[in-house]
Amino acid sequence: MNIILLGPPGAGKGTQAGNLVRKREMLQLSTGDMLRAARTSGTEMGQRVADVMDRGELVTDEIVIGLIDEALDGEKAAGGVIFDGFPRTLAQADALAELLAAKGHTLDAVVELRVNDEALVARITGRYSCGDCGAVYHDSTHPTKVAGVCDHCGSTNLKRRADDNEDSLRQRLMEYYKKTSPLVGYYHAKGQLRVVDGLAPMADVEAAIDAALSR
Ligand code: AP5
Repeated sequence: MNIILLGPPGAGKGTQAGNLVRKREMLQLSTGDMLRAARTSGTEMGQRVADVMDRGELVTDEIVIGLIDEALDGEKAAGGVIFDGFPRTLAQADALAELLAAKGHTLDAVVELRVNDEALVARITGRYSCGDCGAVYHDSTHPTKVAGVCDHCGSTNLKRRADDNEDSLRQRLMEYYKKTSPLVGYYHAKGQLRVVDGLAPMADVEAAIDAALSR
């Protein structure tokens, strides 16, 4: 099963992708994570990507489509792929359809995590994650059980993102509404959209996604 998790910054895409990876042996392909790896590469491209991300704008379609193309070539997940943060433009959605068709795969569902903007500021400014396994936490709603130690892998390499501040979030939201939210209508028209209440407690969101994927 290949699926897209769609929603604005802080909607819970990374959190829920982590659950699906653990339960269903799916592979999470997060363009945000790939771009954060690129920005630490020390290359000129990495520096350009870092500047764009810190401003809260979208990186060019060409770069992210190239990253997904490469990642799909090495794909080896029994449970299929979760696209987290991709596609984010109609051009990326068309490119994904072509890439999947060329590799003999299908897109099975698009899960939209529906939230409202007020909840997102608190979620984004309180977020931190494990630099080793990627598990996502929050200062008040989902802290690690032992302070400073990842629940999943025991690492003490817990990090905050450079773009997790209010100014950058406002720009990221603007980009979402201008360029990414048209994908809701696009996938609805294709009959692939399943909407989940992303404001519900994490365990309820997880159960709603499970139900949506078994439909
Ligand atoms: P990316 O890394 O994809 O970030 P994003 O889309 O802005 O989404 P986030 O990772 O911020 O949020 P999330 O939905 O995963 O929420 P999370 O689960 O962490 O992109 C970063 C940048 O890279 C972009 O701005 C752009 O520059 C570039 N980029 C990436 N992909 C691109 C593309 N395809 N094209 C062009 N540019 C691209 O949850 C957030 C917090 O809330 C956590 O602390 C969590 O614990 C908490 N939480 C989660 N669920 C709940 C819940 N149900 N109740 C209470 N708290 C919750």
